[in-house]
Amino acid sequence: MTDPLTIYFFSGTGNARNVAHWFAATADKMHIPNEAIDIAKIDRKNIQPPPPGSLVGFISPTHGFNYPPAMMYFIFRFPRSKGNKAFLMNTRAGLKLSKWFVPGLSGIALWLSALVLLVKGYRLVGLRSIDLPSNWISIHPGVKEKVVASIYTRCKQITIAFAEKILNGKKVFTAFRDIIQDLLIFPVSIGYFFVGRFILAKSFYATDACDKCDLCIANCPVKAILTVDNRPFWSYRCESCMRCMNNCPKRAIDTAHGYIIGILCLINMGIVVWFWQGVGRLITIPADNGWAETAVTLTGWVLTFAVMVVSYRIYHYLLRIPLLRQLFYYTSITRYKFWRRYKPSRKNS
Ligand SMILES: Cc1cc2nc3c(=O)[nH]c(=O)nc-3n(C[C@H](O)[C@H](O)[C@H](O)COP(=O)(O)O)c2cc1C
Ligand code: SF4
Ligand code: SF4
Repeated sequence: MTDPLTIYFFSGTGNARNVAHWFAATADKMHIPNEAIDIAKIDRKNIQPPPPGSLVGFISPTHGFNYPPAMMYFIFRFPRSKGNKAFLMNTRAGLKLSKWFVPGLSGIALWLSALVLLVKGYRLVGLRSIDLPSNWISIHPGVKEKVVASIYTRCKQITIAFAEKILNGKKVFTAFRDIIQDLLIFPVSIGYFFVGRFILAKSFYATDACDKCDLCIANCPVKAILTVDNRPFWSYRCESCMRCMNNCPKRAIDTAHGYIIGILCLINMGIVVWFWQGVGRLITIPADNGWAETAVTLTGWVLTFAVMVVSYRIYHYLLRIPLLRQLFYYTSITRYKFWRRYKPSRKNS
């Protein structure tokens, strides 16, 4: 009798969900009892420890060279184990250039979580990345349907082969191939965690095409969208998983490129310079006083963050004014027709 399997997955647009289902289907074929659980649909703070002898898997997209916070915190809080086996998978932004499949970059996604699971007493049996298409349509148009289907066919086979090995009791650590580049990119993952993701969370807005169906609010895996002034408003809980933007039935969610560029210029050229000039007038920081310098730098960051919070609220308010709404609309690249939305391949789901 093979160990029962529980897979916990998080997914924005369906790639990681599909990998979890392919893995579970392989277990079904091998008559191994299994369950694939979407962590967005459960009480993440009250997880029961896995039964002794069972196998646990975690599957999630990669966001900013790490697991998204929802999955990271889930693993941090996950109950300890006395020797249960565990595997980790991440889906990344795979590309296809001509006939070549180009992999994404995991960063610390697998390594940090592997370390946490080891400390908690798990025995790691597998670490693998799966290079499904990128869903990050704030920065590039959605991948064409034909290319998606081709990448999907390849990744499904890779996932099934990996699952068969793990379920047959083998150890597979394919991720070690990328360890050097993953660790080198570590500083960027830290930058994304503390700064980048908050800027991205404030990059969405709903256009006039929105009919207030509230589907985006109901389907957000972390309940990040609120209704403010009778239109969707993105809060800092947003993980930029791209589900809302890719699935809005009216294609009414866009990325506010004009606003983001404008506000970053304002912060860098105006507010930060003004802040530093003020600091210079008030105090002289001795060259060797690291604490004072750190305090001033941190204050600068807090100020930057405060500007982002206030400006997004103002931006949201200004969307009421037709002329400004048009200006924001025309400076969003995602509004243009050629900027496709991302849909995972139905054929291979
Ligand atoms: C905000 C954001 C950040 C991303 N960061 C990375 C990354 O660091 N490395 C990578 O290979 N892919 C990255 N991607 C691509 C996704 O990880 C990839 O498309 C994944 O398969 C999506 O899975 P899902 O459909 O389950 O959400 C990013 C996507 C988004 C939206
Ligand atoms: S899903 Fe689209 S149309 Fe529906 S409320 Fe959200 S933005 Fe508006
Ligand atoms: S608001 Fe949209 S992008 Fe952000 S977490 Fe929710 S569904 Fe994902």
